Amino acid sequence: LNGYKHMKTIILGSGKGSNAGALLDASSQNLLGSTEIVGVFSDVAESGVLKIADSHNIENDYLRSDSSSAKLTGEDEQLWMDSLSEYNPDLIILAGFMKILQDPFLKKFHNSIINIHPSLLPSFKGLRSIERAFDMGVRITGCTIHWVNSDLDGGKIIAQAPVRIMEGDSLEIVTARVHAAEHMLLPWVVSDLSQGIIPFPK
Ligand code: GRF
Repeated sequence: LNGYKHMKTIILGSGKGSNAGALLDASSQNLLGSTEIVGVFSDVAESGVLKIADSHNIENDYLRSDSSSAKLTGEDEQLWMDSLSEYNPDLIILAGFMKILQDPFLKKFHNSIINIHPSLLPSFKGLRSIERAFDMGVRITGCTIHWVNSDLDGGKIIAQAPVRIMEGDSLEIVTARVHAAEHMLLPWVVSDLSQGIIPFPK
């Protein structure tokens, strides 16, 4: 992917969808370079992320997945791979997507999946990262955007934004700051990817 190639982009999410919302808002204002968000998919029916896509008139769908497993495997995985392939995506953004992707999916969309994580990786991988950083008493946390590989929250880092934690801050205010940092950083990175400013891995 070089220069101003049209970058067809899919967003996957499971929850509120505030990051998807930030991307769709940026897209409406022509702030995403040559990015076109072509679809939004969720493993959770009626999730916020699907409603936000709806309100922006972006194609969106709930896709089945075994809710008793953290991983996306077997027939479910195949369904997701087939559904996404139809769009021929250049970029897949995990924005609060709670399923762990396995090798077949990662191979199919090799070097084109990014994730946003609410900590300064490699610190606080996994769940409840903001809360764990807060409880640990670190004075700087933040968010990270990284390439996705089979090492959970361990792929190559693309960009990070810092968030300070001051004496007396509540978990709520820190959480709000981390999300604000995410909503700033993610559209920026996506725009830069679409313009070749940030390179795709070879
Ligand atoms: C974000 O904090 C993201 O870093 C994490 O899940 C949250 C998703 O929030 N992976 P939203 O659904 O985008 O509001």
